[in-house]
Amino acid sequence: MNKVVIANFKMNKTIDETLNYVKALSKKLKPNVTVGFCPPYTALASAVKDTKESGILVGAQNIHEEDKGAYTGEISASMVKETGATFTLVGHSERRKYNKETDKVVNTKIMKALKAGLEVVLCIGESLNERNRNETNDVLTRQLYAGLKDVYGNELKYISIAYEPVWAIGTGKIPTVKQIEEAMKIIRNNITALYSKELAGNMVVLYGGSVDPVNSKEISKVKGVSGALVGGAGLDPDKFGDIIANFS
Ligand code: PGA
Repeated sequence: MNKVVIANFKMNKTIDETLNYVKALSKKLKPNVTVGFCPPYTALASAVKDTKESGILVGAQNIHEEDKGAYTGEISASMVKETGATFTLVGHSERRKYNKETDKVVNTKIMKALKAGLEVVLCIGESLNERNRNETNDVLTRQLYAGLKDVYGNELKYISIAYEPVWAIGTGKIPTVKQIEEAMKIIRNNITALYSKELAGNMVVLYGGSVDPVNSKEISKVKGVSGALVGGAGLDPDKFGDIIANFS
């Protein structure tokens, strides 16, 4: 199975900057690594055109939980789908924190994405307090059970999980190999309990949080890790290219 490496631009890059990024990134692809990125909404449609030749996937960073209506500033799953983007992140910790997204909202968004024909990267992860209180297992289990509520086993192929410890995002701190390995085990054990061992084995589970060209070498070898979700280092095509190479 190909490794999967995705860059989350967050609120960075214009349409023009995204085009330049795609030009540079296209030279850094590896045949055994699936590469994607999530630009701001404004650059989605153009990014889909820019990436046509390269096979790079384009996704949104978020969708709204309703189909349409009076939600100023929001964007629906079908609007994202119409741009040609093929997937969306759901439940990123910055959305959970700044936009008060609950597990219930995250679940509704997943259902809307699937209905619109978008694949999903479901982001989960514990805060530093939760880790210090030994609650990592409980938090990941809760986020998975609530997030995947009403998702059928035959829909699981459209869903990937990104394990992103909140304390590792944008901080330069990363968990130990053992901690990542444990989180991967917790996630796959929960998928086994909810669905089956086979589906748990096939599930794409990414690690995210301060992934860079150096630490990605070690992270890529951690048992159970299928790839990476990259923020800061994913903005630079050279650095992101090095991360892709480490996963190849
Ligand atoms: P970071 O962000 O790589 O800058 O820590 C990761 C993310 O938020 O997905």
